[in-house]
Amino acid sequence: HRPVFRLVSSAGPAAADLGRDEQPPGSEVPGTEDKTPKKRFSEVQRERREQAQRTALIHCPNKISEKKFLKYLSQHGPIKNHFFYESFGLYALVEFCQKDSIDSLKHGSHTPSLSTEAAIPFRSRFFSLRQRNPSSQSSEQSCVKISSQVPPTNRKLFDVLYYAESVDDQLNNLLKASELTEENTKLRYLTCSLIEDIAAAYFPSCTVRPFGSSVNTFGKLGCDLDMFLDLDEFRENTTNKNVGNFLMEFQVKSVPSERIATQKILSVIGECLDHFGPGCVGLQKILNARCPLVRFSHQPSGFQCDLTTNNRIALKSSELLYIYGALDSRVRALVFSIRHWARTHSLTSSIPGAWITNFSLTMMVIFFLQRRSPPILPTLDSLKSLAGAEDKCIIEGNNCTFLSDLNKIKPSGNTETLELLLKEFFEYFGNFAFNKNSINIRQGKEQNKPDSSPLYIQNPFETSLNVSKNVSQSQMQKFVDLARESAWILDQEDRASSDDRPWGLAALLLPSIISKSHAKRSKNKPASERVRSLLESIKQGNTADPASTDGE
Ligand code: GTP
Ligand code: MG
Repeated sequence: HRPVFRLVSSAGPAAADLGRDEQPPGSEVPGTEDKTPKKRFSEVQRERREQAQRTALIHCPNKISEKKFLKYLSQHGPIKNHFFYESFGLYALVEFCQKDSIDSLKHGSHTPSLSTEAAIPFRSRFFSLRQRNPSSQSSEQSCVKISSQVPPTNRKLFDVLYYAESVDDQLNNLLKASELTEENTKLRYLTCSLIEDIAAAYFPSCTVRPFGSSVNTFGKLGCDLDMFLDLDEFRENTTNKNVGNFLMEFQVKSVPSERIATQKILSVIGECLDHFGPGCVGLQKILNARCPLVRFSHQPSGFQCDLTTNNRIALKSSELLYIYGALDSRVRALVFSIRHWARTHSLTSSIPGAWITNFSLTMMVIFFLQRRSPPILPTLDSLKSLAGAEDKCIIEGNNCTFLSDLNKIKPSGNTETLELLLKEFFEYFGNFAFNKNSINIRQGKEQNKPDSSPLYIQNPFETSLNVSKNVSQSQMQKFVDLARESAWILDQEDRASSDDRPWGLAALLLPSIISKSHAKRSKNKPASERVRSLLESIKQGNTADPASTDGE
């Protein structure tokens, strides 16, 4: 049922652009995963963090010779890796082989003397490279390869979908086109490492770790950078070293609650970032949110950053999603497509409010994959039962234990195609009894809802909480309507004869269909109801916060 010329163009520019991975998209047969051992989440974090500590960020002149640049920097030691990118100017991320090189680079750099303003002499790993004699080098041709850090345009995505060979290819291509690249991942860990250096001025052994979609395998280019300021890394490790008759403790100041401590710490670190953090702009302290945070833009990387502390459960959720994302190649392909579908239809938004979040959508996909027969993903309870002694983890009284070595999990025997799973996802949730049942990835089965929230997704670690409590009835209805409509479109697709209109996943993302169905729906509603749902969204928007991790 596909247009004939699609085959001819399948190796066209859109398809060729995707080739940043060695493996062609969709080359894996569902259920038959490659056998190379997969790293634990903690291993990835440790390696990336160490790599970031050997890395510097350099603002470069617009015209620069890559060869001369590398020669100049290698004075400080061998360079392992580097790339250039653009973001209000030309930047280079340079990874040295040894950490010492960074000290040498710092040693050889100086604080600029400004003519009309005064510089705050903060010596970070974010540098500016100036040409000594700009006039003699103005004829220099910039011949550096630029690595893109931005998400693909709609046009490109359209081509990627249109020229795919099958619906399965469409889902895999969408994933490859929008997932975080190796370079973007490095930039994320480096940004955390730069912020850590600033926070370390107050808390010398602190760690700033990325969490959320930057690390859980579900991040797409352009997603925010969630950071966790960890002041307590060694708590577990040190307790068992305290042998003997005494227990040594630090003298500390105290405040009435954990929340106040969190607010105080974030407030001070926020000030510090605002005043001294090179490249940190537009800082907002959102300390009264359920999960207090500091939000800012890191200008050179282009990331919007949300810094939180005392948020260890969110890091554990990221690890859990990492495991689910790495277990079966179909999981990420399905999640990316459904997130994209939801964003296109305005079911999700970058503004906090009464809409479904990406996190909730991911939980819904995981739940759906646990419900397949045979299941594609194990339940959280079964991951807990597989856990070893070293995996034991209790956070604030919540049992967050699950297996960390994903190589010990048996691959699923399920070989369903992505095409089938996509259609079945829409059918499943288009007909789900949301009015009476909750979604529960811990047990992998629906349960009676404990309250009347329109959408109830049990928080996997704080099991008395609902991660989608913010979702309004009208948003829920919109989700169900669109899911049914999409199942219907995919069903019609099977029957359609060959023509050259968008097909498969692309047919679900058509703006014409969206605007028509929305216009129809809005027109059918009386004005009073439209105003009421708008007010409802605004009201919820003021109270809900995207970084809230308590599921409220
Ligand atoms: P993006 O939309 O791509 O940023 O996805 P994300 O997963 O990073 O979501 P977000 O930035 O909103 O939140 C970051 C992380 O906080 C998530 O990955 C979760 O681990 C956690 N989180 C977000 N919202 C909730 C929630 O409502 N409940 C719980 N328990 N955790 C949440
Ligand atoms: Mg995020």
